[in-house]
Amino acid sequence: MRLLVTGVPGLLTNDLIPILEERHEVVPCTITDLDITDRTAVSERLKACRPEVVINCAGYTNVDGAETHRQEAFRVNALGVHYLALACRKTGAALCQISTDYVFDGRASLPYQPWDVPRPLNAYGASKWAGECLVASLLPDFYIVRTSSLYGKSGPNFVATILDKAREGKPLSVVTDQIMSPTWTVNFSRGLSRLIESGLFGIYHLTDQTQGGISWYDFSRAILQAVGADLPVRPIAAGEIKRPALRPAFSVLDTSYLTMVTGYEPLDWEKSLTQFLSDRTG
Ligand SMILES: NC(=O)c1ccc[n+]([C@@H]2O[C@H](COP(=O)([O-])OP(=O)(O)OC[C@H]3O[C@@H](n4cnc5c(N)ncnc54)[C@H](OP(=O)(O)O)[C@@H]3O)[C@@H](O)[C@H]2O)c1
Repeated sequence: MRLLVTGVPGLLTNDLIPILEERHEVVPCTITDLDITDRTAVSERLKACRPEVVINCAGYTNVDGAETHRQEAFRVNALGVHYLALACRKTGAALCQISTDYVFDGRASLPYQPWDVPRPLNAYGASKWAGECLVASLLPDFYIVRTSSLYGKSGPNFVATILDKAREGKPLSVVTDQIMSPTWTVNFSRGLSRLIESGLFGIYHLTDQTQGGISWYDFSRAILQAVGADLPVRPIAAGEIKRPALRPAFSVLDTSYLTMVTGYEPLDWEKSLTQFLSDRTG
């Protein structure tokens, strides 16, 4: 298939592009190649390129920044997605929109299903939910794929931060009361590649497996242990750090429907972490 991928370079696309290229023709787009908030550019680019699927990894991704730059977040995560959806409708391309666990409010006690009703707590989540609604209302052929807490070989991301702190021997304080599923970009990319080949359009959840989620605190301890760093981590509550955006206390996504559809079984988070760390050093 010919795939047009936005959001290059980025934490996700740096691993996604080579994985897609194993089986598909990929047209990677930087913001200079294609600014998704430029309606004419979006329309012309899709007309010229004629992709079968557009994978939109472009986004305003600064969760705290979105609280004070709400309009900019909506311009990229809603309006830009709106333009992409309209251009896909015109050219007959399917749109694969990457979205987030932050569309949920975190009040659930069981992992979220793709059909659970979103209720974002922060501006970033609200803008991503707006993008999802636009895609689903404008297109017959779409994938909305929510993921969470990505890490990979390019930063910034949580694993990179913990490894930096370990190297510097800096003390760490990490929250115990936010439960999520950390996700290795390679694991996500392999699953996404399978999904877009299925032709089974819809809303999906794709993260590493955590059996009900882990806290950022537990994740930080696992990272340090895996690299043999003997650094104390102070457990803290989310309320102790003053950050502009509220985060859901529980944002674990249930991925079983994606497995039912594609047969893809995401790796367990510990296997992902081990593999990621050994790829880095190997
Ligand atoms: N990171 C996570 O933990 C996480 C979790 C859940 C979902 N997601 C979603 O996954 C996707 C990829 O995330 P990521 O962490 O890989 O993002 P990232 O590293 O921040 O990369 C985002 C990319 O989008 C580009 N971009 C921004 N505005 C654009 C525009 N108007 N037109 C075209 N490109 C634009 C950025 O370019 P510049 O750098 O030049 O601005 C950058 O290349 C996003 O949709 C995000 O919401 C991420």
